[in-house]
Amino acid sequence: MPSSVMSTSTRDHSSPAAVSAVGLRKSYGDKTVLDGIDLRIPAGSVFALLGPNGAGKTTAVKILSTLITADGGQAQVAGHDLATHSQAVRAAIGVTGQFSAVDGLITGEENMLLMADLHHLPKREGRQAAAELLDRFDLTEAAKKPASTYSGGMKRRLDIAMTLVGNPRIIFLDEPTTGLDPRSRHNMWQIIRELVSGGVTAFLTTQYLEEADQLADRIAVLNDGRIAAEGTAEELKRLIPGGHVRLRFTDPAAYRSAASALREVTRDDEALALHIPSGGSQRELRAILDWLDSAGIEADVLTVHTPDLDDVFFALTGPAGTAHQPNQPNQPNQPNQPNQPQENAR
Ligand SMILES: Nc1ncnc2c1ncn2[C@@H]1O[C@H](COP(=O)(O)OP(=O)(O)OP(=O)(O)O)[C@@H](O)[C@H]1O
Ligand SMILES: [Mg+2]
Repeated sequence: MPSSVMSTSTRDHSSPAAVSAVGLRKSYGDKTVLDGIDLRIPAGSVFALLGPNGAGKTTAVKILSTLITADGGQAQVAGHDLATHSQAVRAAIGVTGQFSAVDGLITGEENMLLMADLHHLPKREGRQAAAELLDRFDLTEAAKKPASTYSGGMKRRLDIAMTLVGNPRIIFLDEPTTGLDPRSRHNMWQIIRELVSGGVTAFLTTQYLEEADQLADRIAVLNDGRIAAEGTAEELKRLIPGGHVRLRFTDPAAYRSAASALREVTRDDEALALHIPSGGSQRELRAILDWLDSAGIEADVLTVHTPDLDDVFFALTGPAGTAHQPNQPNQPNQPNQPNQPQENAR
């Protein structure tokens, strides 16, 4: 793999696109799954596609990796047109599907060598690539055992190791860390980061919003067949309200008197909690504390909540009105002030 051809400074919109798509459409029967999707993923970056179950994430991955064809729209992957040069696209990419491609009847090593054969690697090179990847994914010890004896996480790691045979420049990872324990998940993130710092482009889908937050340069949220929002994690968080200071009381009387003293707050009577809208900056917190002091209010627990990607996900994909309830400050539609330092007390 040519190393470090891309630095992080190239991860912006001026980079050549590894994946670009305009107006991608796909229906199954009368169900429209993708209703005109536009994408532009700079080379050497990580793109995360989020969305609820059934949103069409896997469908998008399958189209872009040539496993199925779109009904409409155009896409280029690695500079090749998907419709007319699917063979060239295939040569440039690696795909880890949502469900395992591991053959349980043969060993982990044999699975890897099979992939090397599929990539027409010479025998020696294939063996070397297999050994290196097995080691990198902590599977050397298990390499000679039938894959059917592997745990779910081991199979997932083998799956991804198999994707990397042949040094693909673009990798599609459909829920790469589902079922992995926290340590394996962090290892996987590290491996993805290393690949990307070597110039590889990663297109991943995930249900773990933290994963997108940690890894992705850009994130898109798929809902109802369309991209509901796209941007960096910070940009997406700024789209929604939700930053607040939460005051929790144990004494119902103290709660009631605070609630009547602080009229401009949202009440959560069940939890005995009050939410004061706040972007979470030090200055705002000081003002709130001063205000509470002067009103003689002392909460038992004070926490600062800044919107996270879970909030974004709920706000963008939930049925209207049900999303986001406990965190909703009483000033809906008032976005957080941009450029404010965001503290996070969770
Ligand atoms: N081969 C198929 N035939 C008919 N319908 C399909 C087919 N494949 C997918 N679908 C439908 O397309 C929609 C999107 O499915 P897809 O697998 O892309 O969702 P997803 O976002 O990956 O969901 P998940 O988070 O559960 O993996 C679903 O309603 C699914 O039932
Ligand atoms: Mg899926």
